[in-house]
Amino acid sequence: MVQRVFSGIQPTGTLHIGNYFGAIRNWASLQEDHDCVYCIVDYHAITTEIDPKVLRAASRSMALDLIACGIDPQRTILFTQSAVPEHTELAWIFGCVTGYSDLARMTQFKNKSAGKKFVSAGLFIYPVLQAADILLYRATGVPVGEDQVQHVELSRRIARRFNARFGEFFPEPEPIVGKGARVMSLADPAIKMSKTAGEAHYIGVMEDERSIHSKIRSAVTDTGLKPGATMSLGVANLFEVLDLSGGLLGDRSAAAELRTEFESGKLMYSRLKDTVFENLMEVLRPIRQRRRELEASGIVEDILREGANKARVIARENMTKVREMAGLVIR
Ligand code: TRP
Repeated sequence: MVQRVFSGIQPTGTLHIGNYFGAIRNWASLQEDHDCVYCIVDYHAITTEIDPKVLRAASRSMALDLIACGIDPQRTILFTQSAVPEHTELAWIFGCVTGYSDLARMTQFKNKSAGKKFVSAGLFIYPVLQAADILLYRATGVPVGEDQVQHVELSRRIARRFNARFGEFFPEPEPIVGKGARVMSLADPAIKMSKTAGEAHYIGVMEDERSIHSKIRSAVTDTGLKPGATMSLGVANLFEVLDLSGGLLGDRSAAAELRTEFESGKLMYSRLKDTVFENLMEVLRPIRQRRRELEASGIVEDILREGANKARVIARENMTKVREMAGLVIR
């Protein structure tokens, strides 16, 4: 049987190239030989304050980004979490088999709640909802970044607890951690590329071309080169982006050539940056073109509705079983 894969992404703004190279590209290739369910997790997004209008637009926009990046709604179920309320229903039941102390250990919760004036209970039980997302479809593979592995492990624990208390039903999902494409911030290459660090730190997949150029131009490098010097983080990160782009374009010669120049101490960083920019744009251009076409065709609402319908069929069937097992009313 083909393995079912589930993953989710928060609809917070547009995708950046760290998301693309680190996660979405992996999501897209898993479609080749898995039964994939991909979800825009708007219930998770409201664990912290977000303007409702912004949220609704961002969910739609994320769907456009994902499809443009190769998520294929013909083969894959793509939908918005709140269109399938069974996610929250299962989350309640899972909340009753999750230890309070298990949640208190979650590093993402500790990071996200540190120093905040108001910390919602929703933020605390966020990983329970995540477990419900995965297990509602009885998925066994979960493509995620390193930072989410702890949550997938908690999902395994929740599955075990449910099974022990109510009977064998849920599989234990495994994280699928991508082969280490970790794009760092351009302005501070010691931290991972993210939107939270601010504008200068990331490159949006749909960002204006001139803006991308100027961000790459001002990426942090180092002050000088000696033959055989070790590569600074910023330079290594530019090479990483070049390698990733070259890999997708099927031509790694630019990276190899520049690497040789680096080793002999002759590399001009301005040339490295321009090459990174050109190669990256070659990867991004077709994605941006598809994004524009999709947006103009106005079919994204239909795609999401269709995706939610397919997801709901599976969700309802599994929830009927869960209600039966847990002694709840059978609808
Ligand atoms: N917590 C994930 C993140 O912030 C998003 C997410 C929600 C998710 N539900 C999921 C990821 C289920 C994988 C599976 O990146």
